[in-house]
Amino acid sequence: MNRREFLAGSMSLAAAAAAPGDPIGTGIIGTGNRGGHLWRSLLKLDGVKLLAACDIKPDRLDQALSAASRDNPMGYADYRKLLERNDVDAVFIASPCDLHVEMAIAALQAGKHVYCEKPLGITAESIGRLLKVAADSKTVFQVGQQMRYSPQLQETVAKVRDGVAGKLMMVKAQRHAGNDLSHSGPSADWFFDARRSGDVIVEMAVHNLDVCNWIVGARPDQAAGFGGVNLWVNQPPGRTSMDGYTLSYEYANGVKMSFTQVFFHPGGMPGGGQYFYAYGTKGAVDVSNARFYPLERGKEAQVLSTASGRGGEPQLAAFYECIRTGTKPLADVKIAAVAALTAILGREAIYQKRVMTWRELGVEVELG
Ligand SMILES: NC(=O)c1ccc[n+]([C@@H]2O[C@H](COP(=O)([O-])OP(=O)(O)OC[C@H]3O[C@@H](n4cnc5c(N)ncnc54)[C@H](O)[C@@H]3O)[C@@H](O)[C@H]2O)c1
Repeated sequence: MNRREFLAGSMSLAAAAAAPGDPIGTGIIGTGNRGGHLWRSLLKLDGVKLLAACDIKPDRLDQALSAASRDNPMGYADYRKLLERNDVDAVFIASPCDLHVEMAIAALQAGKHVYCEKPLGITAESIGRLLKVAADSKTVFQVGQQMRYSPQLQETVAKVRDGVAGKLMMVKAQRHAGNDLSHSGPSADWFFDARRSGDVIVEMAVHNLDVCNWIVGARPDQAAGFGGVNLWVNQPPGRTSMDGYTLSYEYANGVKMSFTQVFFHPGGMPGGGQYFYAYGTKGAVDVSNARFYPLERGKEAQVLSTASGRGGEPQLAAFYECIRTGTKPLADVKIAAVAALTAILGREAIYQKRVMTWRELGVEVELG
C-alpha cells in the first residue's frame, strides 16, 4: 500500500499518519520573501519532495523552481491547479494575508495537510469560517506562529505559568523598529494596504500578541488603544497601515497587558527592539532573556532557561513529524485563531476609538 492509499483509507487524524519511509509530496502557494525562505529550508529536510510551486509573479516562481531543481517541481499561476495534484500531500501557504483563509479552506477541502503562514486571517468572520472547516478536517493544520517552537520561550513561559514570579498581574510587551519596511520592495504592493495585510498589528504583531496570550494562558476579554500613521504619512502613496500605536488589553482573570509597536525608534537609543515582561506578585520575568528578577531587595536574578532562543526553523520538521505520526501541531488552528483575533480586537479598538470586547468579534474560540 502506498502512502496515498493509506491516507485514503483513514478516518481520523491519527490514522492519517504517513506511511513510514515515503517522502511527503509538498507544494507551496506564494513564493515571495517568506515562501521562498520556507521553500529553501524544506530542501534541507529528509523525507520531503518539493513537487509544485505557485505564484502569480513569474520571476518569483522561477526562483523557487530553480532553487528546488533537485526535485523537478512544476510551476503554477493558479493555486487551484496545484491543489488538484494527487501526489501533493502537504501545502504551504505564504501569500499575502488577505488570501490565507480562502486558500487554506480550499487546501483543507482538497484533503491536504496545511502549513499556513500567520496571520490565520484578517477578519473575524473569515477566521470563524476557517475554524469550522478545520474542525471537520482530518489532516494536519499548522500555522506560522513559530515562536511557539522556541525551546527557550517554552521553558520560560512554563515557569511563569508555574508561578516563579508569584501571581501574574501584568504583561508589558513591545515591538519597536528604527525604520519602516521598504516602500519600493516587492511586498510593498500589499503590505501597506490595511485591507490586504489586516494592518501592521495583524500582519506583524500577531507573533508578539500570541506570546502575551501564551504567558497569560488565555485570550483577552477587552482592548482599548490609539494609533495611526504618525511619521510615514502617505509613504508609500495611499498607505493605510499604521506606523505607531499603543494598546491595553484586559484578561478575564484580571491580568492587564500593554503593547506598543513603532517604526521610528532611533537605532542609537536604548529601549528598542522586542521584549515581553511578565510582572507577578514576587517579581518580574524578562521572558525573551529567560531571567527572573525578584522584588525582594538583595535577591539575585535567576536564569530560567539555558535552552537556545530563536534559530533555524524547528517548526518545519515538527510539521512533517505531525503528518507522519498523526499528532496535533503545537501552533494549531485555535492558537492561531486566538492570536489573529487578539490583533483584530486591538485594531478595531484603535480604529473605533473605544473599548472593544471579545464578544463583539462574534467568534467563540478559547486557548487550550
Ligand atoms: N512567520 C513569519 O515569521 C513570517 C515572516 C514574514 C512573512 N510572513 C507572512 O508570509 C506571508 C507572505 O509574506 P511575504 O513577506 O513573503 O510577502 P511577499 O509579497 O514577498 O510574498 C507573497 C507572494 O505571494 C504571491 N501571491 C499573491 N497573490 C497570489 C495568488 N493569488 N496566488 C499565488 N501567489 C500569490 C505574490 O506574488 C508574492 O510573491 C504574509 O502573510 C506574511 O505575514 C510570515
